[in-house]
Amino acid sequence: MDFASKPLRHFLTLSDLRAEEARDLLQRATELKRMARAGVPFEPLKNRTLGMIFEKSSTRTRVSFEAGMTQLGGHAMFLSPQDIQLGRGESVEDSARVLSRMVDAVMIRTFEQRKLERFAEYSQVPVINGLTDRFHPCQLLADLLTYQEQRGSIRGRTVAWIGDGNNVCHSYVEAARLFDFELRIACPEGFQPDADILAGAGGCCTLLPAAAAAATGADLVVTDVWTSMGQEQEQAQRAQVFAPFQVDEALMGRAARDALFMHCLPAHRGEEVTAAVIDGPQSVVWDEAENRLHTQKALLEFLLVT
Ligand code: CP
Ligand code: NVA
Repeated sequence: MDFASKPLRHFLTLSDLRAEEARDLLQRATELKRMARAGVPFEPLKNRTLGMIFEKSSTRTRVSFEAGMTQLGGHAMFLSPQDIQLGRGESVEDSARVLSRMVDAVMIRTFEQRKLERFAEYSQVPVINGLTDRFHPCQLLADLLTYQEQRGSIRGRTVAWIGDGNNVCHSYVEAARLFDFELRIACPEGFQPDADILAGAGGCCTLLPAAAAAATGADLVVTDVWTSMGQEQEQAQRAQVFAPFQVDEALMGRAARDALFMHCLPAHRGEEVTAAVIDGPQSVVWDEAENRLHTQKALLEFLLVT
């Protein structure tokens, strides 16, 4: 396909995909994973460049996008705010205008969702959300693929989100609507997901005050750090408030017999999850991490080629 004539699409939130597009994308990720494992070369992004702006730390997102671009025949460019003029006050709008004349897509990890949206408004090329304070949609693509690989369709299943109503939780809320599963969210008072995001989810999400009630009978139990990037000054207070929301073997024992455990990582053993759970037989966190690579390759192909 002629790249220049492709209609511009961004991936700022999971809801930027229609349900059937999201399902097709996971199917394609499965194919790309199989091809990669079989050593079949597939390089549709030859001579294409992904710019990657990271205003927060990253291991998985950075490495999966960079390795993914290499595997697709292209190149990824790591742009730290310390090194580019954006970090010295050049506006988001001007940065978007300039970068998007030189690269073929831009991935951004930043704080405010609005900053990402402003970049996208001024970009001529697809913009991908590599995590903001509000959403982490790329993580959900990997989680959904991982569930599908292990247990088949997630439709009609029950997912328990335990802990902070944070960016990853928000993307789970969007995923519940898109993939039609029941999401039970157990968060401490004052740390629930944003009301406007819940309101957009229809009837598929329930807020519960206790972890045990959310986990009972669940097919998938998910948690994340108690202190997200940018909240470091709240760490001590959060450690106290979140203590009853640790995922341990007793909590997993309430879930369905064949329930899975997921965590986007990085994890803090002994805080949000015990070592026995994350390193135990129900945990699929390493497949989940690997699937960032395969799903984002499918996403890049979707945005740039197909
Ligand atoms: N899960 C995730 O996004 O990890 P990184 O912060 O290492 O990119
Ligand atoms: N909620 C975490 C996710 C890290 C991948 C954070 O924003 O720091």
